[in-house]
Amino acid sequence: MVSFEWVSGQVRARDPRVKGEKMGKGKAGKSKTVCSCCGVTEADIKRAIADGATTYKQVKKATGAGSKCGDCKDDVKKIIKRELAKMSEPEDKGDAVKKEEPSKKKDRFKFELEPLEGEFTVCKVQDPSAIDLSVPFTFVAKTDTELSLVCPTGKVPAETVAREDGWRALRVAGILEFSLIGVLEAITHDLAKRGVSCFAVSTYDTDYVLVKSEDFDRVFAEE
Ligand code: FES
Repeated sequence: MVSFEWVSGQVRARDPRVKGEKMGKGKAGKSKTVCSCCGVTEADIKRAIADGATTYKQVKKATGAGSKCGDCKDDVKKIIKRELAKMSEPEDKGDAVKKEEPSKKKDRFKFELEPLEGEFTVCKVQDPSAIDLSVPFTFVAKTDTELSLVCPTGKVPAETVAREDGWRALRVAGILEFSLIGVLEAITHDLAKRGVSCFAVSTYDTDYVLVKSEDFDRVFAEE
């Protein structure tokens, strides 16, 4: 299940300096040091990931790892990949899971969603030259039967075959490894629990979820 706690505080909370925690030197006791320049341990990195960091850049910002010679970069990335893969797997607690009420299960997934500015339109067009690919957040899909476009409402071509306005878009923060499973499943599951239907678009780096504007506030509502 996706946690949406980040909406009001995840970005702030995942920065240890905001929380008053000190990562790096001495914090994790006997944990293996990954970044010797900055004294950042594996435990520090895991904690940053648990707090919401999903990319090397975010871990670097949260812990300081890699801010000097950069020799630790590959090791840090390996830890991120491993920890994110673990987070995307359902917890296996054996009998303990069977005895646990569904409502008491812990969150199994944790992804940060970034709301994009403005409204979006989902439409079908006939003329590909009418699509302005210089506009950020323009998604085009061409199949044997249609040419679909998702883009900011103000940038929809003058002529469309069909269109539906009134969507808000959310980006899954960070770069998702292809091996990371269950991202969309987790997000759509959580949205469904809030009675919010959605439309998903994937790019090479990450996933985007579109919800109707009238449902937008419910995406972030407390359960
Ligand atoms: S070992 Fe991490 S920056 Fe040098």
